[in-house]
Amino acid sequence: MLVCPRCGSALEDSDQGRRCVSTTCRYGVAGSFPTVGPWPVLVDFERSILERDAVEAVPDVGLAPGLLRRRINSRLPARMRAWWKAPNAVAARNAEALMSRLAGPSRLVLVIGGAEMGNGMEGLYAGEATVIAFDIYGTALTHFIADAHQIPLTSGSVDAVVIQAVLEHVLDPGQVVREIHRVLRPGGLVYAETPFLQQVHAGPYDFTRYTASGHRWLFRAFEEIDAGPVAGPGTQMLWSVDHLARGLLRSGLAGRLARAVFLWLRRLDRLVPASYAIDDASACFFLGRRAERELTPREIRGYYGGAQRWS
Ligand SMILES: C[S@@+](CC[C@H](N)C(=O)[O-])C[C@H]1O[C@@H](n2cnc3c(N)ncnc32)[C@H](O)[C@@H]1O
Ligand SMILES: [Zn+2]
Repeated sequence: MLVCPRCGSALEDSDQGRRCVSTTCRYGVAGSFPTVGPWPVLVDFERSILERDAVEAVPDVGLAPGLLRRRINSRLPARMRAWWKAPNAVAARNAEALMSRLAGPSRLVLVIGGAEMGNGMEGLYAGEATVIAFDIYGTALTHFIADAHQIPLTSGSVDAVVIQAVLEHVLDPGQVVREIHRVLRPGGLVYAETPFLQQVHAGPYDFTRYTASGHRWLFRAFEEIDAGPVAGPGTQMLWSVDHLARGLLRSGLAGRLARAVFLWLRRLDRLVPASYAIDDASACFFLGRRAERELTPREIRGYYGGAQRWS
């Protein structure tokens, strides 16, 4: 299934790794695509934010040091983790909806940005489907290292794609979504979760936010199965309190302490209906099916389902 990220041609093994079989491709020379540790690195470095030297030197560290902190967090005892970071029930429900539509053990699910297991995705990994994951760095979950702007997989080769908390980190989300459309078989499924009102995370590698309508437009070549808010204004406010304390006291620790004191704000999400939460959610989700026609500008105008509908 793996192909050249630049031209989509087949790959050939060589002593120094893989190379593209096309004689006109710039990656046709031996060693173009190295294997670093256990991970094939299939990146068109000329067009990627990733640098070959960095990936070869430290293939198991992502672009942002914040990711290392995530790994440390994930070593906390499960109960403490759930208290500090609420389990994502919306993602868990949607992962189940995705799996029920896939039915069958030979189904292939591609997780983009899957070096770490996303919050709420445990059921997906424990289910019948075969899960393959790629990211820009390697972990025990990563099958290959690649850049989502140029997915090194043949067209129509996967049954579903999961992309959770990743589209804000790519330079061109539209290009990534076109790649998702390409690698999905006709009628294949996509599950995306993307921040709407969240503070910058991952420092210089955080580029974009989406309203529910903006997210729907991004996935305009897909038919919607379901969409909505992921965490509401209570969660969003909790993060704002954390960042306000950080800013006032110039200290990440102060932010975390403020968050511990105001954790209860999260619970208010339960009292806010989805039609209001969609206007101030922490993130939006979209569950859809690959379509062969795109939503029109007129259709996106009528799409909005929040509390600001004018009759
Ligand atoms: C905020 S983390 C989310 C990880 C996981 N999906 C989750 O929900 O916990 C963003 C992930 O996207 C990955 N990522 C960033 N840019 C990428 C790109 N161009 N191609 C593939 N993955 C990328 C990062 O390395 C990181 O693992
Ligand atoms: Zn090529």
